[in-house]
Amino acid sequence: MSWCLETATTRYVVDLAPDSAGPVLQDWTGGEPAPWLPERIASFLSEADRIPSEYSALGTRQVRGAELIVEHPDGVVGARLVWPEDEVAFTDDGLRSVLTARAFDTSGRVTVDLVVETSRAHDVVSKHAVITNVGSEPCSLTRAFSPAWHLPVAGPVRVGILAGHWSREFTPSTIVLPAGEVSIGSRQGITSHDYSPVVAVTADSATEGPAWGVALAYSGSWRLLIDVPPFRSRTRVAGGGEDETCVILLEPGESFTTPTTLGVHAPDGVSGLRGRWHTYQRTVLARSMDIAVRPIVYNSWYATTFDVRIDHQLDLADSAAALGVEVFVVDDGWFSGRDDDRGGLGDWWPDARKFPDGLDPLISGVLDRGMRFGIWVEPEAVNPRSLLFEAHPDWVYRAGDRPLVTVRNQYVLDFGRTEVVEWAKGWLRALLADTRITYLKWDMNRPVTDGGRPGDPHGREWSVQHARGYLDVMRMIREEFPHVTVEACSGGGGRIDAAVLAVSDVVWPSDETGPRDRLAIQHGFLSAYGPHVMSSWVTDEPDRLDTEPASLAFRFLVAMAGVLGIGGDLGSWTPQQRALAAELVARYRDIRETVHTGRVETHGVPSDPVYAVEYGTAAQTVLLVYGRAHRPDKVTVRPRTLRAGARYRHGEQIVTAEDLSAGLTVGFALAPDADLVVLDLVD
Ligand code: GLA
Repeated sequence: MSWCLETATTRYVVDLAPDSAGPVLQDWTGGEPAPWLPERIASFLSEADRIPSEYSALGTRQVRGAELIVEHPDGVVGARLVWPEDEVAFTDDGLRSVLTARAFDTSGRVTVDLVVETSRAHDVVSKHAVITNVGSEPCSLTRAFSPAWHLPVAGPVRVGILAGHWSREFTPSTIVLPAGEVSIGSRQGITSHDYSPVVAVTADSATEGPAWGVALAYSGSWRLLIDVPPFRSRTRVAGGGEDETCVILLEPGESFTTPTTLGVHAPDGVSGLRGRWHTYQRTVLARSMDIAVRPIVYNSWYATTFDVRIDHQLDLADSAAALGVEVFVVDDGWFSGRDDDRGGLGDWWPDARKFPDGLDPLISGVLDRGMRFGIWVEPEAVNPRSLLFEAHPDWVYRAGDRPLVTVRNQYVLDFGRTEVVEWAKGWLRALLADTRITYLKWDMNRPVTDGGRPGDPHGREWSVQHARGYLDVMRMIREEFPHVTVEACSGGGGRIDAAVLAVSDVVWPSDETGPRDRLAIQHGFLSAYGPHVMSSWVTDEPDRLDTEPASLAFRFLVAMAGVLGIGGDLGSWTPQQRALAAELVARYRDIRETVHTGRVETHGVPSDPVYAVEYGTAAQTVLLVYGRAHRPDKVTVRPRTLRAGARYRHGEQIVTAEDLSAGLTVGFALAPDADLVVLDLVD
């Protein structure tokens, strides 16, 4: 008995192992499913350790690592899972396939429900599990990973990850793993700048073979484990909620739903994963691909930092409107007591010294200039110097009597407490009730360093609860204020994952806006996340970190690679710079649908003398070409998104796709270090 879950171009085939050993992966190659075989090396392995189980518990599989570790009050650790065949259900309506299966623990204390889903609209397989305490006493889940993936690839494997830190997010790295385990993750209560919860796995061979990608749709502390057992035929990728800091207490009758894990197969190799992730994000996670949902932003943070004054903001708004900006966003510094980063967080009303008549005059001024109005908030944070902390010192995470730790002079509010989540919803509702606020940037500027809640037996679940509370408030905004665009941010790219993409419209990938650094960050970002969510601003020189000069056109083309924004101090821009900026904003309008929805191809890497990002739809291909100061006079790129046999308008000329694909000359007409090529389909 096996079940075939169809995706747009591949299939995920699940079988049942003999003796009620449960669902196993039969085939995930896109070819004809062949009978699956247990690992050949049987000596010294139990049967359960030989099979590619979708979900296994310690106590069922004892040699290899398991997805679930459960501890009972009588000291028994683990569970022996039995998966009766009549507890498997499969539905397929021609659009979606759903497989569910239930396991019982032989001691009658837990059940596990496995859910595997696919859709013909994309290639991503989505899986989660629900663990239920069906016994009469509480139990603890010291590990409750999501269902695992047994990729049909043996060691040595090549594992692609996106690693970094603050201002260096999404740096691609490759690990060659002949045998052993590699683990990435976060214990910070947020996704983290250090690792993005997504991996790409291929065989380590000279020729590019098929690739598999695995991601977690989860914004709390997490772990992804790539497990290559020596001399076996499959690589296990497991993961879910982080299992060092988190223990989940299940009272009788309670259930825990694991984070959703996402998997994708690309027969055409690692570069084929990118487009498949993008399609999934556009068709499933994005609420709409309407251009209005992702407007061209001006954000005043770099121009003013905490020194927010109405007259100055309106001067900036004048300039922004003249450039063609669509939404003016006031960043940090507008609320009570916020003169620097030492005070104010928690006191979410306009500072009476800066806004004696409230936000009204500023909002009206921005609207009068023809733009939407947006604002920055950081609901999960509180400064010790705030009225909120004075009133509710118990609302922050605490680990017993250990002294509280500040990062950026702030604490983290305990979003595992209902009253804190309700407080956040309350003031956000009040703020957004002014329907003229139509853009919200939600920030989170520190990790949770000492999660916990003294006296609460569920305190060790804080990271699960925090992620849940955060998503709950974000969902409220989406449901009750659908006219508001939400930009998710965490000190740059500290919280970007598929769960955040499901509740936001755009994300801020990094605080680093220096153009060449940014290009490198965006290159990594685009390997897993779509350009339609990639918020990017043009800022001024010199950058804090990236001091190599770049033309204004270069900086624009970097920001035009995703959702264009401007963050420079417009008051200091010359008339020539403003004119060029207005022209490039107008050109962005002509290409943004292609940038947001097109297939992305990269040419080289950002450190090359010339690097290009290409976007292609049925109607248009766009190439953003980046050179260095010592650029060659002309370079050739070979577009890959053109339709065979079609003809395209390239400037004044009509050229065939074949001629263009053979080599398109880029003359760097726009600037010595940057050029924009637009190829419009003629017929
Ligand atoms: C974080 C964000 C920035 C800005 C500042 C404001 O660092 O990533 O974009 O909003 O906070 O304090």
